[in-house]
Amino acid sequence: MRKNRRVLVGITGGIAAYKSPDLVRRLMDRGGDVRVVMTEAACEFITPLTLQAVSGHPVHRCLLDAEAESGMGHIELARWAEIMVIAPGTANFIASMANGKADDLLTSLILASEAEIAVAPAMNRQMWQNPATQDNLQTLRRRGVRIIGPAEGGQACGEVGLGRMSEPDEIARELLGDGVPKLLTGACITLTAGPTWEAIDPVRGITNRSSGKMGFALAEAARDFGAEVTLISGPVALETPSGVERIDVVSAQDMLDRVQEHIGNTDMFIGVAAVSDYRPVLSAENKIKKDRDSMELKLIRTPDILRSVAEIENPPFTVGFAAETERIDQHARSKLVSKKVNMIVANNVAGKEGAFGNDYNTVTVHTHDKSMSIDRNDKYGLSVKILEIAVSLWKKQ
Ligand code: C5P
Repeated sequence: MRKNRRVLVGITGGIAAYKSPDLVRRLMDRGGDVRVVMTEAACEFITPLTLQAVSGHPVHRCLLDAEAESGMGHIELARWAEIMVIAPGTANFIASMANGKADDLLTSLILASEAEIAVAPAMNRQMWQNPATQDNLQTLRRRGVRIIGPAEGGQACGEVGLGRMSEPDEIARELLGDGVPKLLTGACITLTAGPTWEAIDPVRGITNRSSGKMGFALAEAARDFGAEVTLISGPVALETPSGVERIDVVSAQDMLDRVQEHIGNTDMFIGVAAVSDYRPVLSAENKIKKDRDSMELKLIRTPDILRSVAEIENPPFTVGFAAETERIDQHARSKLVSKKVNMIVANNVAGKEGAFGNDYNTVTVHTHDKSMSIDRNDKYGLSVKILEIAVSLWKKQ
């Protein structure tokens, strides 16, 4: 079963609160699992019952609510949320956030959570322009809070200008990245990601600098395209995107075994992992002592997972990656042919600007007919473009 993205909608006391039920609905339409927290002032503008009916869950209002604490208490709620969006965010509430206050449930949740936080401000245009508000927003941006909007136009107070809350559909799209087309609904995608670790002894091994970020971003994008995603990952320090089935592996052989278990149900296989090409012939049972001046390590080739998938009878649509430090496109094109895959994504891993560990990259996609460069983008943005190309080629088959 796919899980949804867990979104906590915080409603504060502004007239734009009348748009909040619509926001909840739009988030749910995009696969969000939504819970609502309202401040006391918000309840002056719209009733909790409306939000309960729309979200299908009780609305959380009080910090010290014995009943709620025995169900989903405020700390669990803070842990539960993957995204918190404050909409509308009044000037007063934004000031509280900027000052790190925790004087009600919503401010406390914001302080207690590791969720991604976004605010959709809504206020009169003078309040928006006020340097105090702008300074507060700057503080929030510096802390990584995403500010969505506001929009320009007529305001409830009769004035015209910047300060209206952005439209719910726009906020939902920004939050759930669901502007992407559902081109893979019903398809099963298997990906490999990260490095592998080939043990020399129980504490040492051969590995590489792959962070896993590209594979995880692709898994997230494939999920947003509507696919059922299995992500087979080597050792990385990344969180599993929600709704994605993750299988952790260590060595190339483990990775191959798990890929083979899943490949029968796979429509598209994307090999993003930087699989170690060699492993020690022998892996010592105990830690090797440094009692010799030199030692030799005999290595043997690991199985080529991507090649083995492409070689099966009726293979899935296969996409490989080529991480190179020189003559990138030439090497990538020769892999496209020799590994008999449908598509290769070439990236440069040389130097500090290289792909490994970075959040941004540029890549070139090679198919048997043509090559296409994708401009510098974050790895999620690149993933969306890579998948669009892959899907269009796959559908033509
Ligand atoms: O041959 P090279 O390692 O450059 O090929 C890279 C592509 O092949 C990547 O898609 C990588 O995930 C895949 N690969 C693999 N198994 C290996 C080596 C590479 O699946 N042993």
